[in-house]
Amino acid sequence: MTKRIPVALATVLVSMFLTFPALGQPAKDAAPASTDLGARVKAVQANPAQFEASYKLGSKAAAVCAFCHGDNGNSVKSDIPNLAGQNPAYLLEQMRQFSVGERRYEFMEGLIKALKPEDKIGIAVFFASQEVQTKPTANTALADKGKAYYVKNCLACHGEQGRGSEGFARIAGQQTGYLTLTLKRYRDGSSVRQGSVMAPSTKAMTDEDISTVSAYVSSLK
Ligand code: HEC
Ligand code: HEC
Repeated sequence: MTKRIPVALATVLVSMFLTFPALGQPAKDAAPASTDLGARVKAVQANPAQFEASYKLGSKAAAVCAFCHGDNGNSVKSDIPNLAGQNPAYLLEQMRQFSVGERRYEFMEGLIKALKPEDKIGIAVFFASQEVQTKPTANTALADKGKAYYVKNCLACHGEQGRGSEGFARIAGQQTGYLTLTLKRYRDGSSVRQGSVMAPSTKAMTDEDISTVSAYVSSLK
């Protein structure tokens, strides 16, 4: 449904976004290279005072994200991903990819380009700290089948609980529709996320594997 965001809506959202006082200003400290952002997030997380300031900035910047990604990063739309509990390095990497057009989604590309490095750090800190509200699976038999497939083919990278680490995405509790859509895109070599390590991992998946694994993964906490 939300494949295309009307331009008018995008404009409203972006202008709303730019009215946040902290966001329109240039960063005071020298602008760091985006590749340093991961290291900077770690430093922020290790320092309580910096964490608090960054979290606050991030929670303000995230207000505009809530329109689609939900309050505190728990999306209520099946084809829009949760950002809650996501690994900060993964969030930063996806923001980088959107901002340079490596990952394609027109609306996100424009929005992320407008963010300052400090906002990106704050956003990563804020969403990573939110709890994912996992919904129990509606179909246990489907999820059980998916578990067997997951353990054999996915666990090595995404972990036993599906929480990933660093650049390995957290997929536990992710929206079912988004998981299905994303796995099919990887498998079919869609141009929206090219060159991912996920391409070989999904090559042999049938539509049934995709729906069982999505049911299982979305039920993980
Ligand atoms: C108008 C709706 C909308 C708004 C507002 C929005 N997003 Fe998104 N975002 C999406 C959709 C849809 C996707 C999934 C794109 C796809 O299918 O690949 C997405 C994907 C993402 C992803 C990748 C998630 C993943 O699991 O790979 C990140 C990170 C992200 N958005 C961050 C943000 C941030 C930060 C904001 C606010 C500054 C924001 N988004 C605002 C619709 C939105
Ligand atoms: C070799 C390691 C590896 C294996 C095996 C692997 N993944 Fe991934 N996966 C990744 C990495 C790294 C990413 C980060 C995104 C990217 O590079 O596209 C990712 C991303 C994803 C995403 C996108 C998350 C998001 O929020 O958009 C999903 C869904 C996913 N993997 C599911 C799976 C499933 C299901 C399996 C098993 C069939 C699997 N992965 C096997 C490494 C792996």
